[in-house]
Amino acid sequence: MNPAIKRRPAEGFTTITLIVRRFDPEVDSEPRWVDYDVDTLPTDRILDALHKIKWEQDGSLTFRRSCAHGVCGSDAMRINGRNRLACKTLIKDLDPTKPIYIEAIKGLPLEKDLVVDMEPFFASFRAVQPFLQSHTAPPEGRERLQSAADRERFDDTTKCILCAACTSSCPVFWTDGQYFGPAAIVNAHRFIFDSRDEEAEVRLDILNDKEGVWRCRTTFNCSEACPRGIQITKAISEVKAATIRRPDKIKIA
Ligand code: SF4
Ligand code: FES
Repeated sequence: MNPAIKRRPAEGFTTITLIVRRFDPEVDSEPRWVDYDVDTLPTDRILDALHKIKWEQDGSLTFRRSCAHGVCGSDAMRINGRNRLACKTLIKDLDPTKPIYIEAIKGLPLEKDLVVDMEPFFASFRAVQPFLQSHTAPPEGRERLQSAADRERFDDTTKCILCAACTSSCPVFWTDGQYFGPAAIVNAHRFIFDSRDEEAEVRLDILNDKEGVWRCRTTFNCSEACPRGIQITKAISEVKAATIRRPDKIKIA
């Protein structure tokens, strides 16, 4: 077919252009931007367009995904300069008449195309001891009861799916990658304010470190990036306040 004759998409489809920042460590010394034209439906998401590229144009395109429904947290990426989940971003919400730029999240080592090394992110998560710790026996040998109000205290921070959209949008994290980052603090918050947990003070000591909560500059990038709508900056300020007040007053805060 004469390449000068423009191909028309099938009925109902629109051709969009995705410009993807690609990097193959085996052949590239620097990342490079590559254009792809993809026929999409109005209801398609960025993840669908990436699948079409991978399945129909270039099988070497590399990205993470699993659930495709905003639950597993594996497909956070920068879409038009903003951290989002590819599976939760509808193409029709992005102005499909203009090219859509896709690149890996920032601040973590780039491995290939849209895949970064998540280990530094998970190391910070593990460091805040994100699991319930109780050393006293439950009353009368039964389960540990919790009132609805006590459960509500940390409800927002239970919603985290560890996608790293927040931490990798934080300019403090970009500078040297040493800061614990918003996601680790969110997950510490989830247990610090749990009335059944007895190790809040340990987590507060960990986050009182020079790379802990005090490095937050309240830029709100994290809250804007969070696909779960968690009020991250609020959670960080509650942990800051608890660091000063300490646990005996936390439970009634
Ligand atoms: S707090 Fe939100 S943005 Fe950060 S890791 Fe959890 S779900 Fe993702
Ligand atoms: S693929 Fe699981 S959150 Fe997007």
